[in-house]
Amino acid sequence: MSVATLTSIADFEKSAQEKLLDYVWSYYSKTAGTGQTYQDNLEAFRRYRLIPRNLRDVSIRDTSVTVLGTKLDIPVAIAPTAIHRFAHPDAELATAKGAAAMNTGMVLSSWSTRSLEEVAEAAPGGVHWFYMLFFNDRGYVKRQLERAERAGYSAIFLTIDQPLFPKPGASPRSYPFTVRFPNIFETDPPHAFGTAEYRQSLLELVKEYATWEDVEWVVANTRLPVVLKGVLSGEDAKMAVDRGVKGIYVSNHGGRELDGVPATIDVLPHIVRAVDGKAEVYLDGGVRTGTDVLKALALGARCVFIGRPALWGLAHNGAEGVQQVLQILTEELSQAMARAGCAKISDIQPSLVVHQSCYGI
Ligand code: FNR
Repeated sequence: MSVATLTSIADFEKSAQEKLLDYVWSYYSKTAGTGQTYQDNLEAFRRYRLIPRNLRDVSIRDTSVTVLGTKLDIPVAIAPTAIHRFAHPDAELATAKGAAAMNTGMVLSSWSTRSLEEVAEAAPGGVHWFYMLFFNDRGYVKRQLERAERAGYSAIFLTIDQPLFPKPGASPRSYPFTVRFPNIFETDPPHAFGTAEYRQSLLELVKEYATWEDVEWVVANTRLPVVLKGVLSGEDAKMAVDRGVKGIYVSNHGGRELDGVPATIDVLPHIVRAVDGKAEVYLDGGVRTGTDVLKALALGARCVFIGRPALWGLAHNGAEGVQQVLQILTEELSQAMARAGCAKISDIQPSLVVHQSCYGI
């Protein structure tokens, strides 16, 4: 598939499937259980219908938004995903460059194959956020937080929906390059990634089962705003806000963790009500078109994140591919805003969206 023919996120998905090695494609596409939640993330967007307002002046559209005090040109940012080296030799450096070229944010994963310092240096004008694992040793956590602060990261994301590490054997044992995680290990373990011994080294360092006390500790020990990723319960959202969390990120991990949880877009309005304006609310899971973005914003998300689509762009042609994926979503959003009667993001209101069940469909 030539670059010129890729005009939708679906095209990038097809291209990535053709380009990526089988084991990488299946790792990126993996879903939990029967894939019910993964499918529902995609299908749920279609259950919401748009009620446009016409005859408003939409000749000039502004897609910019402020997230945690930083202005982004688009309300679409990059979700944390592991091992970008699988998709492209420039790995996370390329993803960060693609995001920076669109003046949007990227959450760097702890499971990044490049160090957080290298990523920040590769995209100096970028908006850098860091998804940090929980560690058993608080001194270690403090050092990680200080590293992120020193390197210019402007928020800490804590993922709360992934308490279990993959079992050994879940991923292939050998790769055409050495898999390293410089944001997890200060010193590389002596065993190869994927082995039981490697997993043991991880478990000695990383806290598999974190609790609210760990969140409180992080909030109290960094000057950066903290975002909780993986929130699906209004009660958890309220508990987070009470503990000083600044961003509530509605996610089901792209359907990769607990199968049977609802689609994120279906949960979003409940979370927005529970948070009651006391924190920003974000969403990911199944965002594939500009109208998906529009619907999520109408239902109260301040911005959305993309996981797999960014990896598909990266697989296609590195930084440029990531930028193209973001450009497509921006263009589709801008067109959808024009047709819906919205000149700017604050014009996107809940009345723009109706659930199909309201029509008895
Ligand atoms: C993820 N996701 C993820 N989330 C997280 O908090 N930390 C991580 O390291 C990873 N790693 C990861 C790897 C891969 C290959 C995928 C596909 C996903 C979940 C990710 O941040 C996000 O929640 C989903 O990908 C969003 O769904 P879509 O956009 O992929 O449908």
